[in-house]
Amino acid sequence: MQKVIIVGASSGIGKELARLYAGAGHFVGITGRRQDLLYLLQLEYPNRFVTECFDVTGTGNIVHLESLIRKLGGLDLLIYNSGFGEAKKDLDWATDKITVDTNVNGFIEISNYAFNYFVRQGHGHLATTSSIASIRGNGMAPAYSASKAFQSAYFEGLHIKTRMMKLPEIHITDIQPGFVDTQMAKGDKKFWVAPPAKAARQIYQALEKKKWRVYITRRWWLADRQTVQMDAGFHIPPDRLASPDQPALSTQPFFWHFPCLFKRQRMAS
Ligand SMILES: NC(=O)c1ccc[n+]([C@@H]2O[C@H](COP(=O)([O-])OP(=O)(O)OC[C@H]3O[C@@H](n4cnc5c(N)ncnc54)[C@H](OP(=O)(O)O)[C@@H]3O)[C@@H](O)[C@H]2O)c1
Repeated sequence: MQKVIIVGASSGIGKELARLYAGAGHFVGITGRRQDLLYLLQLEYPNRFVTECFDVTGTGNIVHLESLIRKLGGLDLLIYNSGFGEAKKDLDWATDKITVDTNVNGFIEISNYAFNYFVRQGHGHLATTSSIASIRGNGMAPAYSASKAFQSAYFEGLHIKTRMMKLPEIHITDIQPGFVDTQMAKGDKKFWVAPPAKAARQIYQALEKKKWRVYITRRWWLADRQTVQMDAGFHIPPDRLASPDQPALSTQPFFWHFPCLFKRQRMAS
């Protein structure tokens, strides 16, 4: 039985993950700003869930975390899942600021605290829901893709740090979902969209296996591979690269190079 905190569990992927952990008999601390949704979720497993309602862009993150750890009686796994992103044609400071406050400042404060908590304890598992958007800049949401790149690079650093500090019982997982059917996934150019319950199942399995980086759903590893090829400067003709009104992670160049795989996977799903 593990003691788990999911920061950002009031809806979407976090809520489905919370259900999976509680259903498997673990104690789960769930957080978010929408108290009513946290209470509704708690009703599903009253003996398994404890709640703490707070905004990760505020000043009380550590106080709330410590309160939750006390309620749980310890901490084995923390998943930072809170996230904000908005696609806009213009460059809006208010949007950029909320994005960075949520996905960078809140993220690093809570991750830094949890990592050091696990170092003191000698074991623990820290995960974040980054995004496949982390692999390239996105013209419609530059702060979002940059913030997710920050999360993934920070976690890669923490993963290396566990090796440097010889801490084999501390695990780091960078979760990179593609499109998942939640409030967060906006726009009309979505593809390979996964239901949140399926995404949560794959995340749960990856966390059980202590994987350090995982693509959700699994086929999204292809996008990362494609980026490596793009960065190497070959394969993609310039006119196939992203245009201003098309996200950098465009389906065009992506499927240009993997048409057979795409057909096979579409048939399988
Ligand atoms: N859906 C996708 O296609 C997709 C793809 C890649 C990555 N992701 C990432 O997956 C994570 C979960 O998103 P989702 O798709 O499940 O969307 P969602 O249903 O909107 O969930 C977002 C969660 O973050 C919490 N949150 C947002 N701002 C917060 C704040 N300031 N303080 C505290 N909690 C906050 C929300 O709770 P409250 O609103 O109650 O505070 C909610 O529980 C995000 O980090 C997102 O970037 C999503």
